[in-house]
Amino acid sequence: MLQQAEITPAEDSARQERFPVGASLEFADMEEGGREEALDRLREAEPVSWVPALGGWLVTGYPEARQLLSPRCGTTVEAEENLVRHSLGRMMLTSDGADHDRQRAPFDGPFRMREVGDLFADAIAAEADALLDELGPAGGCELGASFAAPFAVRMTGRVLGLSLDDVPRIDGFYSAFAGAMVYDGNPEPQRLADAAREELNAILHGDIARCRHAPDTSVTSQVANDSDHGVSDDEAVAQLRVIMFGGIETIQSGIMNTLLLLLRDPEAIAAVRDDRDLLPNAVEESLRLIPPVAFVERWTVAPTAIGEVELGIGEFVGASTLAANRDPAVFPDPLAYDIRRENARRHLAFSFGEHFCLGAHLARLELTTSVGRVLDRLPELRLVAAEEPAGFAFRRPPSLEVAWSP
Ligand code: HEM
Repeated sequence: MLQQAEITPAEDSARQERFPVGASLEFADMEEGGREEALDRLREAEPVSWVPALGGWLVTGYPEARQLLSPRCGTTVEAEENLVRHSLGRMMLTSDGADHDRQRAPFDGPFRMREVGDLFADAIAAEADALLDELGPAGGCELGASFAAPFAVRMTGRVLGLSLDDVPRIDGFYSAFAGAMVYDGNPEPQRLADAAREELNAILHGDIARCRHAPDTSVTSQVANDSDHGVSDDEAVAQLRVIMFGGIETIQSGIMNTLLLLLRDPEAIAAVRDDRDLLPNAVEESLRLIPPVAFVERWTVAPTAIGEVELGIGEFVGASTLAANRDPAVFPDPLAYDIRRENARRHLAFSFGEHFCLGAHLARLELTTSVGRVLDRLPELRLVAAEEPAGFAFRRPPSLEVAWSP
């Protein structure tokens, strides 16, 4: 396991002198809503920069971010300091190379585009409709808490094949895992994540046994009944944990970000209402402009040049997908929400390289279907109030108040 290199105060000062824009960046510039132009300034001056507020390197240029995430870049996720592993354990997202591929392989089939459509298209529409049936008469709501979050949690339950009693517990597991990914010196979040992992493991092992006895359409069932998949039950459970984690806040954010952008743009929403074929690209454009996962991290395993900057061994280096997705060299007029943008799908919201999101096809189907159902079922939907999208690792408006004709 790689140990992150210690940077001496002298080296830190030298880097700050060489990268003055990075040195002046505050953590709030990467976290708070409405401060994205600080990242734009950084990308323009120093697309690979030393950012003391992050304690590492930050990549904001699109080609440089792709290079960082590409398999031959000389970086790893297997570092002692990787908080995702502390929280969720060893699994595909915290492993590299052949071992990563072995752990991911049994899940590649069930998450292919066609399989995802066959297994989940009806369930996605049914979950969205069930929530909208309840919401319709109210005439208004905070869309995150009332629709996007419960939709994401219920769909996760469907994907994992959890029994209905277990679905409400997913929220608690999610919060325990997310809490341990922010290290502030307090050991309590880690203790809660360890306890949540034990509890979730027991549920998932039970599910695997149940699916062997009575197969269903869940991913758990597909993998449990594939006798030749090369992972133990413990390893399968470890992958199911990250599948559970990966599909909750991201989907909630994707729904909220897409609806926020559409509702703020009367022409775009009218065009999508008129021609539903525009919706998939509108979703891609939302993922580009406000990526739900705004930051992706790696560590160097060898001296590595990213763009024009040489990095030593054991250096912490993150890519801002938020900044890379707004690189004007790849996306002209990058701040415009252009639902017809031809290369919107080139965004890095699902990452790039070997850790490219396993659930990308499912996510696309969940987002287009759920947003489409909201537009169909809530007539004259309008924005009442929204806070600016914010968040360092996960990004969305903290709240999204909407109203419609009941
Ligand atoms: C809009 C929704 C989503 C976004 C923006 C998103 C984003 C991402 C990103 C950026 C990564 C890579 C992180 C890295 O390179 O270090 C990733 C990996 C992953 N995602 Fe997603 N995700 C979404 C939905 C989902 C869903 C619905 C699932 C499953 C149900 C899922 C499961 C995973 C898994 C298992 C990985 C690890 C893949 C690997 O390491 O090989 N994601 N996702």
